[in-house]
Amino acid sequence: MEKKFKRIGVLTSGGDAPGMNAAIRSVAKSAMHFGIDCIGIRRGWQGLINCDFVRLDGHAVTHILGSGGTILYTARSEEFMTEKGREKAVGTCKVLGLDGIVAIGGDGTFRGALELSRLGIAVMGIPATIDNDIGCSNYTIGFDSACNTAIECIDKLRDTMQSHERCSVVEVMGRHAGFLALYVGLATGATSVLIPEREVNFEEDVVKRIQNARIAGSTNFTIIVAEGAGSAIDIGQRIHEALGLDPRVTVLGHIQRGGAPTGRDRETATRMGYHAVKAFAEGRSGSVICTQAGSITEIPIEEALEMKKHLPMIRYEIMQATSAPGMAL
Ligand code: F6P
Repeated sequence: MEKKFKRIGVLTSGGDAPGMNAAIRSVAKSAMHFGIDCIGIRRGWQGLINCDFVRLDGHAVTHILGSGGTILYTARSEEFMTEKGREKAVGTCKVLGLDGIVAIGGDGTFRGALELSRLGIAVMGIPATIDNDIGCSNYTIGFDSACNTAIECIDKLRDTMQSHERCSVVEVMGRHAGFLALYVGLATGATSVLIPEREVNFEEDVVKRIQNARIAGSTNFTIIVAEGAGSAIDIGQRIHEALGLDPRVTVLGHIQRGGAPTGRDRETATRMGYHAVKAFAEGRSGSVICTQAGSITEIPIEEALEMKKHLPMIRYEIMQATSAPGMAL
Protein backbone atom coordinates (compact mmCIF):
# COMPACT_ATOMS: atom_id res chain seq x y z
CA MET A 1 0.00 0.00 0.00
CA GLU A 2 1.31 3.46 -0.89
CA LYS A 3 2.25 5.60 2.10
CA LYS A 4 -0.12 8.53 2.70
CA PHE A 5 2.47 10.73 4.43
CA LYS A 6 5.71 11.15 2.51
CA ARG A 7 6.76 14.61 3.68
CA ILE A 8 5.70 16.53 6.77
CA GLY A 9 6.44 19.94 8.25
CA VAL A 10 6.99 20.86 11.90
CA LEU A 11 6.61 24.30 13.46
CA THR A 12 6.59 26.02 16.84
CA SER A 13 4.10 28.79 17.51
CA GLY A 14 3.07 31.11 20.37
CA GLY A 15 5.25 31.64 23.45
CA ASP A 16 8.34 29.43 23.48
CA ALA A 17 8.89 26.80 26.16
CA PRO A 18 11.95 24.78 27.21
CA GLY A 19 11.68 21.39 25.53
CA MET A 20 10.39 22.68 22.18
CA ASN A 21 13.76 21.81 20.62
CA ALA A 22 13.55 18.31 22.07
CA ALA A 23 10.12 17.95 20.44
CA ILE A 24 11.42 19.23 17.07
CA ARG A 25 14.31 16.77 17.26
CA SER A 26 12.00 13.91 18.08
CA VAL A 27 9.66 14.75 15.19
CA ALA A 28 12.61 14.94 12.76
CA LYS A 29 14.25 11.72 14.00
CA SER A 30 10.96 9.81 14.22
CA ALA A 31 10.10 10.93 10.68
CA MET A 32 13.43 9.47 9.52
CA HIS A 33 12.61 6.29 11.40
CA PHE A 34 9.25 5.97 9.61
CA GLY A 35 10.75 6.88 6.22
CA ILE A 36 9.05 10.31 6.06
CA ASP A 37 10.85 13.45 4.87
CA CYS A 38 10.76 16.32 7.40
CA ILE A 39 10.85 20.09 6.81
CA GLY A 40 11.08 22.71 9.57
CA ILE A 41 8.74 25.68 9.12
CA ARG A 42 10.28 28.76 10.70
CA ARG A 43 8.37 31.47 12.63
CA GLY A 44 5.18 29.49 13.21
CA TRP A 45 2.05 29.98 11.12
CA GLN A 46 3.51 33.19 9.67
CA GLY A 47 6.39 31.14 8.32
CA LEU A 48 3.97 28.76 6.65
CA ILE A 49 2.33 31.74 4.94
CA ASN A 50 5.74 33.06 3.83
CA CYS A 51 7.16 29.67 2.78
CA ASP A 52 9.94 30.17 5.34
CA PHE A 53 11.46 26.72 5.82
CA VAL A 54 14.58 24.74 6.55
CA ARG A 55 15.35 21.10 5.79
CA LEU A 56 15.51 19.02 8.96
CA ASP A 57 17.94 16.20 8.35
CA GLY A 58 19.71 14.38 11.17
CA HIS A 59 22.51 16.97 11.19
CA ALA A 60 20.11 19.91 11.67
CA VAL A 61 18.75 18.49 14.91
CA THR A 62 22.01 17.26 16.42
CA HIS A 63 22.76 18.65 19.90
CA ILE A 64 19.43 20.46 20.36
CA LEU A 65 17.79 17.99 22.76
CA GLY A 66 19.04 19.86 25.82
CA SER A 67 18.88 23.43 24.56
CA GLY A 68 16.28 26.07 25.43
CA GLY A 69 14.29 28.19 22.97
CA THR A 70 13.33 26.88 19.54
CA ILE A 71 15.67 26.55 16.55
CA LEU A 72 12.62 27.15 14.33
CA TYR A 73 11.84 30.51 15.98
CA THR A 74 8.28 31.28 16.98
CA ALA A 75 5.73 33.97 16.31
CA ARG A 76 2.10 34.94 16.79
CA SER A 77 0.56 35.58 13.36
CA GLU A 78 -2.26 38.07 12.76
CA GLU A 79 -2.31 37.17 9.06
CA PHE A 80 -3.03 33.52 9.78
CA MET A 81 -6.23 34.63 11.54
CA THR A 82 -7.53 35.73 8.13
CA GLU A 83 -8.95 33.48 5.42
CA LYS A 84 -6.50 34.91 2.91
CA GLY A 85 -3.54 34.17 5.18
CA ARG A 86 -4.67 30.58 5.68
CA GLU A 87 -5.12 30.12 1.92
CA LYS A 88 -1.51 31.24 1.44
CA ALA A 89 -0.46 28.71 4.10
CA VAL A 90 -2.27 25.95 2.21
CA GLY A 91 -0.45 27.13 -0.93
CA THR A 92 2.90 26.63 0.84
CA CYS A 93 1.89 23.10 1.86
CA LYS A 94 1.13 22.34 -1.80
CA VAL A 95 4.35 23.90 -3.13
CA LEU A 96 6.51 22.07 -0.59
CA GLY A 97 4.54 18.85 -1.01
CA LEU A 98 3.69 18.67 2.69
CA ASP A 99 1.22 15.92 3.55
CA GLY A 100 0.92 17.01 7.17
CA ILE A 101 2.04 19.54 9.79
CA VAL A 102 3.07 18.92 13.40
CA ALA A 103 2.26 22.10 15.35
CA ILE A 104 4.01 22.55 18.71
CA GLY A 105 2.52 25.16 21.05
CA GLY A 106 -0.54 26.06 23.11
CA ASP A 107 -4.26 26.64 22.60
CA GLY A 108 -3.76 29.37 19.96
CA THR A 109 -1.50 27.04 17.98
CA PHE A 110 -4.12 24.29 18.05
CA ARG A 111 -6.86 26.69 16.97
CA GLY A 112 -4.69 27.51 13.96
CA ALA A 113 -4.12 23.81 13.31
CA LEU A 114 -7.87 23.17 13.41
CA GLU A 115 -8.48 25.91 10.82
CA LEU A 116 -5.82 24.43 8.57
CA SER A 117 -7.27 20.93 8.89
CA ARG A 118 -10.64 22.34 7.76
CA LEU A 119 -8.85 23.36 4.55
CA GLY A 120 -7.72 19.79 3.97
CA ILE A 121 -4.24 19.80 5.52
CA ALA A 122 -3.52 16.96 7.94
CA VAL A 123 -2.28 18.21 11.32
CA MET A 124 -1.12 16.90 14.69
CA GLY A 125 -0.64 19.06 17.80
CA ILE A 126 1.93 18.81 20.60
CA PRO A 127 1.20 20.82 23.78
CA ALA A 128 4.10 23.02 24.85
CA THR A 129 3.66 25.98 27.19
CA ILE A 130 5.12 26.90 30.56
CA ASP A 131 1.56 27.74 31.72
CA ASN A 132 0.40 24.07 31.75
CA ASP A 133 -3.05 25.43 30.89
CA ILE A 134 -4.03 23.06 28.06
CA GLY A 135 -7.28 21.33 29.03
CA CYS A 136 -6.74 18.07 27.15
CA SER A 137 -3.33 17.20 28.56
CA ASN A 138 -2.43 16.98 32.20
CA TYR A 139 1.13 18.01 31.31
CA THR A 140 2.57 20.49 28.81
CA ILE A 141 6.20 20.61 27.68
CA GLY A 142 8.11 23.40 29.44
CA PHE A 143 6.16 23.50 32.70
CA ASP A 144 8.69 21.56 34.77
CA SER A 145 11.64 23.61 33.47
CA ALA A 146 9.84 26.90 34.17
CA CYS A 147 8.94 25.72 37.69
CA ASN A 148 12.54 24.79 38.38
CA THR A 149 13.82 28.12 37.08
CA ALA A 150 11.36 30.02 39.30
CA ILE A 151 12.21 27.81 42.30
CA GLU A 152 15.92 28.47 41.85
CA CYS A 153 15.30 32.23 41.69
CA ILE A 154 13.05 32.22 44.76
CA ASP A 155 15.58 30.14 46.74
CA LYS A 156 18.17 32.81 45.94
CA LEU A 157 15.80 35.60 46.91
CA ARG A 158 15.10 33.83 50.19
CA ASP A 159 18.80 33.90 51.13
CA THR A 160 18.93 37.66 50.98
CA MET A 161 15.43 38.11 52.46
CA GLN A 162 16.52 35.95 55.39
CA SER A 163 19.70 38.00 55.95
CA HIS A 164 17.81 41.29 55.89
CA GLU A 165 14.61 39.95 57.51
CA ARG A 166 12.54 41.21 54.61
CA CYS A 167 9.38 40.43 52.73
CA SER A 168 9.68 39.35 49.10
CA VAL A 169 6.84 39.61 46.61
CA VAL A 170 7.50 37.56 43.47
CA GLU A 171 5.38 37.63 40.33
CA VAL A 172 5.44 34.51 38.19
CA MET A 173 4.00 33.89 34.72
CA GLY A 174 1.10 31.58 33.88
CA ARG A 175 -1.21 33.85 31.90
CA HIS A 176 -4.77 33.16 33.23
CA ALA A 177 -3.76 30.05 35.18
CA GLY A 178 -2.17 29.49 38.58
CA PHE A 179 -0.44 26.14 37.94
CA LEU A 180 3.05 27.62 37.86
CA ALA A 181 2.48 29.86 40.90
CA LEU A 182 0.97 27.15 43.07
CA TYR A 183 3.52 24.49 42.17
CA VAL A 184 6.36 26.91 42.84
CA GLY A 185 4.72 28.09 46.08
CA LEU A 186 4.51 24.52 47.36
CA ALA A 187 8.09 23.83 46.37
CA THR A 188 9.48 26.93 48.09
CA GLY A 189 7.27 27.02 51.19
CA ALA A 190 5.94 30.48 50.30
CA THR A 191 4.08 32.42 52.98
CA SER A 192 1.18 32.85 50.56
CA VAL A 193 0.33 32.23 46.91
CA LEU A 194 -2.19 34.35 45.01
CA ILE A 195 -3.77 32.59 42.05
CA PRO A 196 -6.45 33.60 39.51
CA GLU A 197 -8.58 30.53 40.26
CA ARG A 198 -9.41 31.88 43.72
CA GLU A 199 -10.59 35.40 44.50
CA VAL A 200 -7.87 37.21 46.43
CA ASN A 201 -8.82 38.38 49.91
CA PHE A 202 -5.88 40.63 50.74
CA GLU A 203 -6.58 40.72 54.48
CA GLU A 204 -6.89 36.92 54.82
CA ASP A 205 -4.46 35.76 52.15
CA VAL A 206 -1.66 38.23 52.71
CA VAL A 207 -1.90 40.28 55.91
CA LYS A 208 -3.02 37.47 58.24
CA ARG A 209 -0.64 34.97 56.71
CA ILE A 210 2.34 37.27 57.23
CA GLN A 211 1.17 37.90 60.82
CA ASN A 212 0.79 34.15 61.44
CA ALA A 213 4.23 33.47 60.04
CA ARG A 214 5.72 36.23 62.22
CA ILE A 215 4.09 34.85 65.36
CA ALA A 216 5.41 31.41 64.43
CA GLY A 217 8.90 32.89 64.42
CA SER A 218 9.59 33.85 60.79
CA THR A 219 11.26 37.15 60.09
CA ASN A 220 11.23 36.83 56.30
CA PHE A 221 8.20 36.24 54.08
CA THR A 222 7.63 35.26 50.47
CA ILE A 223 4.40 36.11 48.68
CA ILE A 224 4.02 34.59 45.22
CA VAL A 225 1.64 36.32 42.82
CA ALA A 226 0.48 34.60 39.63
CA GLU A 227 0.42 37.25 36.89
CA GLY A 228 -3.26 36.42 36.31
CA ALA A 229 -4.09 37.20 39.96
CA GLY A 230 -2.69 40.72 40.09
CA SER A 231 0.45 42.79 40.07
CA ALA A 232 3.30 42.11 42.49
CA ILE A 233 4.06 45.83 42.56
CA ASP A 234 0.52 46.61 43.80
CA ILE A 235 0.65 43.80 46.35
CA GLY A 236 4.02 45.06 47.62
CA GLN A 237 2.60 48.57 48.03
CA ARG A 238 -0.45 47.28 49.90
CA ILE A 239 1.73 45.20 52.24
CA HIS A 240 3.70 48.34 53.02
CA GLU A 241 0.51 50.27 53.77
CA ALA A 242 -1.08 47.50 55.85
CA LEU A 243 1.92 46.29 57.86
CA GLY A 244 4.61 48.95 57.53
CA LEU A 245 7.02 46.42 55.98
CA ASP A 246 9.31 47.45 53.13
CA PRO A 247 8.83 44.59 50.62
CA ARG A 248 11.16 43.93 47.71
CA VAL A 249 9.32 43.11 44.50
CA THR A 250 10.66 40.79 41.77
CA VAL A 251 8.88 40.13 38.49
CA LEU A 252 10.50 36.95 37.16
CA GLY A 253 9.15 37.49 33.64
CA HIS A 254 10.65 35.83 30.58
CA ILE A 255 13.54 34.30 32.50
CA GLN A 256 11.02 31.50 33.22
CA ARG A 257 10.78 30.69 29.51
CA GLY A 258 14.52 30.23 28.99
CA GLY A 259 17.19 27.74 29.97
CA ALA A 260 17.88 24.09 29.33
CA PRO A 261 14.82 21.82 29.60
CA THR A 262 14.69 19.47 32.56
CA GLY A 263 14.79 15.71 32.17
CA ARG A 264 11.01 15.54 32.44
CA ASP A 265 10.55 18.02 29.59
CA ARG A 266 13.12 16.33 27.35
CA GLU A 267 11.58 12.93 27.95
CA THR A 268 7.98 14.09 27.48
CA ALA A 269 8.86 16.05 24.34
CA THR A 270 10.65 13.04 22.87
CA ARG A 271 7.68 10.76 23.54
CA MET A 272 5.15 13.26 22.19
CA GLY A 273 7.16 13.95 19.04
CA TYR A 274 7.40 10.25 18.29
CA HIS A 275 3.66 9.67 18.81
CA ALA A 276 2.72 12.59 16.55
CA VAL A 277 4.77 11.19 13.68
CA LYS A 278 3.64 7.61 14.36
CA ALA A 279 0.02 8.78 13.98
CA PHE A 280 0.88 10.20 10.53
CA ALA A 281 2.81 7.05 9.62
CA GLU A 282 -0.24 4.99 10.50
CA GLY A 283 -2.52 7.28 8.48
CA ARG A 284 -4.15 9.18 11.39
CA SER A 285 -4.29 12.97 11.89
CA GLY A 286 -6.36 15.79 13.37
CA SER A 287 -5.46 15.19 17.03
CA VAL A 288 -3.44 16.63 19.88
CA ILE A 289 -0.93 14.32 21.55
CA CYS A 290 -1.80 14.43 25.26
CA THR A 291 -0.65 12.92 28.52
CA GLN A 292 -3.38 11.47 30.68
CA ALA A 293 -2.60 9.48 33.80
CA GLY A 294 1.00 9.16 32.63
CA SER A 295 0.25 7.66 29.21
CA ILE A 296 0.10 9.26 25.80
CA THR A 297 -3.27 9.56 24.05
CA GLU A 298 -4.55 11.24 20.89
CA ILE A 299 -7.53 13.58 21.31
CA PRO A 300 -9.27 15.13 18.28
CA ILE A 301 -8.34 18.83 18.15
CA GLU A 302 -11.92 20.10 18.24
CA GLU A 303 -12.65 18.08 21.36
CA ALA A 304 -9.25 18.96 22.86
CA LEU A 305 -9.98 22.69 22.54
CA GLU A 306 -13.25 22.27 24.46
CA MET A 307 -11.64 20.49 27.39
CA LYS A 308 -11.05 22.33 30.66
CA LYS A 309 -8.40 21.57 33.24
CA HIS A 310 -8.91 22.57 36.86
CA LEU A 311 -6.17 23.48 39.26
CA PRO A 312 -6.31 20.82 42.00
CA MET A 313 -7.43 23.01 44.95
CA ILE A 314 -6.16 20.41 47.41
CA ARG A 315 -2.74 21.79 46.54
CA TYR A 316 -3.86 25.23 47.65
CA GLU A 317 -5.05 23.74 50.95
CA ILE A 318 -1.70 22.02 51.38
CA MET A 319 0.12 25.28 50.71
CA GLN A 320 -2.03 27.01 53.33
CA ALA A 321 -1.49 24.23 55.85
CA THR A 322 2.25 23.90 55.45
CA SER A 323 3.82 27.16 54.37
CA ALA A 324 2.94 29.64 57.11
CA PRO A 325 1.89 27.49 60.03
CA GLY A 326 1.19 29.15 63.33
CA MET A 327 -1.64 30.17 65.55
CA ALA A 328 -4.51 31.44 63.39
CA LEU A 329 -5.25 35.03 64.43
O1 F6P B 1 1.97 31.55 27.47
C1 F6P B 1 3.29 31.67 27.90
C2 F6P B 1 3.54 33.05 28.46
O2 F6P B 1 4.90 33.10 28.89
C3 F6P B 1 2.60 33.48 29.58
O3 F6P B 1 2.95 32.91 30.82
C4 F6P B 1 2.74 34.97 29.52
O4 F6P B 1 1.58 35.61 30.00
C5 F6P B 1 2.91 35.24 28.05
O5 F6P B 1 3.37 34.03 27.46
C6 F6P B 1 3.89 36.33 27.73
O6 F6P B 1 3.89 36.51 26.35
P1 F6P B 1 4.93 37.40 25.53
O7 F6P B 1 6.07 36.50 25.15
O8 F6P B 1 4.17 37.85 24.35
O9 F6P B 1 5.40 38.50 26.43
